[in-house]
Amino acid sequence: MRLLATLLLYVLILPASFAQHHSGQAAIASAHPLATEAGFEVLQQGGNAFDAAIAVSAALAVVEPAGSGLGGGGFWLLHREADKKQVMLDSRETAPSKAHRDMYLDKNGDVVRDLSLNGPLAAAIPGTPAALDYLSQHYGKLPLSVTLAPAIRYAREGFAVTPRYQRYMGFRQQALNPEAKAIFLDGDNIPVLGTRIVQQDLAKTLEAIAQKGRDAFYQGEIAKQMVKSVQAAGGIWTEQDLAAYQLKIRQPVKTQIADYTMTTAALPSAGGQLITLMFNQLNTLDYWQADAQQKRHWLIEVMRRAYRERTMHLGDDDFVEVPEYLIDPEYAAQIAKDIAPDTASKSEALSDEFTNKGQDTTHFSIVDQNGNRVSATLSINYPFGSGFVAGNTGVLLNDEMDDFSALSGSPNAYQLVSESANEIEPGKRPLSSMTPTFVENDQRLLVLGTPGGGRIITMVMQGILHFIEGQDAAGIVAAPRLHHQYLPDKVQLETPGFSEADQLDLKRRGHQLEVLNRQFGNMQVIVADKKTGLLSAASDPRGEGLARTDIIIND
Ligand code: GLY
Repeated sequence: MRLLATLLLYVLILPASFAQHHSGQAAIASAHPLATEAGFEVLQQGGNAFDAAIAVSAALAVVEPAGSGLGGGGFWLLHREADKKQVMLDSRETAPSKAHRDMYLDKNGDVVRDLSLNGPLAAAIPGTPAALDYLSQHYGKLPLSVTLAPAIRYAREGFAVTPRYQRYMGFRQQALNPEAKAIFLDGDNIPVLGTRIVQQDLAKTLEAIAQKGRDAFYQGEIAKQMVKSVQAAGGIWTEQDLAAYQLKIRQPVKTQIADYTMTTAALPSAGGQLITLMFNQLNTLDYWQADAQQKRHWLIEVMRRAYRERTMHLGDDDFVEVPEYLIDPEYAAQIAKDIAPDTASKSEALSDEFTNKGQDTTHFSIVDQNGNRVSATLSINYPFGSGFVAGNTGVLLNDEMDDFSALSGSPNAYQLVSESANEIEPGKRPLSSMTPTFVENDQRLLVLGTPGGGRIITMVMQGILHFIEGQDAAGIVAAPRLHHQYLPDKVQLETPGFSEADQLDLKRRGHQLEVLNRQFGNMQVIVADKKTGLLSAASDPRGEGLARTDIIIND
């Protein structure tokens, strides 16, 4: 019955996409000005949004090494305007063939968190190079030698150290291996502002990919070099693991929200499932008519309930069975039934511990002059990943293995708990929160996403709500954010962001507040007016990114 209802929802309500007028304008929002410029450089050379996505992601791999890179993975939501095709490229990292469920436990059965976070045992098999190659072969117009050229130039010429670089390096400095130190530090010290970080080895690796595509990374000299250095430092990668890496093409999750269609990340991201579950709950409440304080209460309650489902049920659905009812409106109505209009629920009464402290990962949004779009969230997990640069390849490896459940019910670095659905198995992808998203009707389009660990999903949810309520791109990225993830039973609030009156209102309803002395997220947004084709773009004021639009004359 539930399955039937879900299928009907897909078939009857959800159009594939909507016609859009094009103004000749293109827009790119990314976490670093040089990455945004790399995208425009490629568009000016006759490239499309997919070529620009290759250029932006490769540039980010060089100039924002804390967030993503060739040693990582991610999800790429694509819309091709000519045939309205929408897919999600899943370049999530996979567990090596020698990985096993208990690999991060000591003899007492306790998790040794250092092993899943720092050094090569923490690294899963990267997917980003496979995605670059696939995008170029199947969607782009230009060869990799053109689209990777800006990144290669940045790697050779260097980029300037910023406050954000210093902050993240301060957090991860102790994890770096000698190869990483030689690139990212000045001796043993964090480089001063403006110091140029030059990456000659990474430039050579990018050049090899530009010449030979994915095989240059997954086979041959670079693969051998990476495996040798990983094994020498206690890691378990094999050459066969690299050669066997497979990019997956997924159908995105599609959901109707008010009179908009949301297209978003499928498993192994929890994003599409949880945002759908949250909106389906809101639809059973009096959300759209409520005032701002009431809305905040409803939102926290639906977050609480959605994250509880994440803990219990979600994992890589190529390996485990994930219940289809999670995105069924009928199920959402059931779990929302006990939400009281004025009083906070108790998470323990719903029924395990988790919260999320970090920022990691990167996101960029692109719409080109012909209406093609890319919304991509890419990661190496923790800032600067595992801190391990593999031999002389210049490739900084991820620590995405920490996104698995090292021990059922035990929180990971972001204090996210998961259970057997997300336990480690060879070849499996760790459950993610990355949620690149499109939201549209025949009037307006939103392209968005953000980094931020376990908070990604609730940030994207709030971005969508602000869009539906009429905010523009700048308003959406600037809006204050809150977060609840079931356990611990606390609402995290950004500072600045919520007035005394707003905090008092939440307390009066029984919510426990954790007022953070900081902000979170680095959202990159594009909004299109479909009637005029005009685009506006905004980069989160919390970050150091750049959003801009420009007229592109080609074709
Ligand atoms: N590594 C962060 C995520 O995938 O959610």
